[in-house]
Amino acid sequence: MKVFPKDFLTTQDFSESQLLEIIDLAIRMKRNKSRYSRALQGKKLAMIFEKSSTRTRVSFEVGMYELGGIALFLSSRDIQLGRGEPIADTARVLSRYVDGIMIRTFGHDRVEELARHATIPVINGLSDWLHPCQAMADFQTIVEKKGRIRGVRFCYVGDGNNMAHALGLLATRLGAHFSCATPEGYEMDERVIEMMKENAKISGSRLLLTHDPLEAVKNAEVIATDVWASMGQEEETEKRKKDFAAFQVNTTLTKYAESGYIFMHCLPAHRGEEVVSEVIDGPHSVVWDEAENRLHIQKAIMYTLMRT
Ligand code: CP
Ligand code: NVA
Repeated sequence: MKVFPKDFLTTQDFSESQLLEIIDLAIRMKRNKSRYSRALQGKKLAMIFEKSSTRTRVSFEVGMYELGGIALFLSSRDIQLGRGEPIADTARVLSRYVDGIMIRTFGHDRVEELARHATIPVINGLSDWLHPCQAMADFQTIVEKKGRIRGVRFCYVGDGNNMAHALGLLATRLGAHFSCATPEGYEMDERVIEMMKENAKISGSRLLLTHDPLEAVKNAEVIATDVWASMGQEEETEKRKKDFAAFQVNTTLTKYAESGYIFMHCLPAHRGEEVVSEVIDGPHSVVWDEAENRLHIQKAIMYTLMRT
């Protein structure tokens, strides 16, 4: 068995079997919470937030508590990082106090730099480029709802953003088919597209990148979307509302999916923009399960990286 990498920055650093092992562990931890109540006893996680969060903050904090450890919430507004202390020095200092660092930030290079200079595991809690913990929670949810990943027809409609990237990379790594519809000018990053193609060659995933939401959604078993304006893009909100108008997940669009499709959204959602209430609050929606699974999958990730 290949050893696990030190950090969880992108699912690309992990093999298919390692990712499936983490998902399987998350499902077992969810079923038998008490069995793992001392699994990380005495361990400490520092959580650096340079952006807002509800789910990521609470699920990591509660997750550490449920494993017997503690989590420290470090807002960049309050720590010296926010006043210009280098990320490398922050990594070196925190490595002397705690056993792992979770970071939510802007540029993905900051996550990588932190990991390079930390002697302890670093977990990506969202960068502008990727949100791998969310993608893992989403694929745990797919296992629970669909009973399989390989061959599942996964469709993403909306902005070619950090969620699209994380979902596309994980889907193609694990052998799910991935279709993605974005407006022109909002396509997924070229580097990610190349990585997905490489993944698909090995896993057998089919890849469809289009500007036509109907084409992407046709026969989908999973429809996912995300906000049109991500954190840091607030000034573009009005322009994006116009550019994305034809990419709303509504009941006209979902008719093209398979009848038993599930709807996914990482949350927070904007009803009436990227998705309508009839869909996100309707019987096909699994968004609360996804949110819950952030807790279980992150416990599994922390256990895998931090237990020694
Ligand atoms: N989905 C997600 O990461 O939510 P938060 O921004 O609330 O952490
Ligand atoms: N794409 C969104 C995801 C939020 C969890 C953002 O980056 O704001």
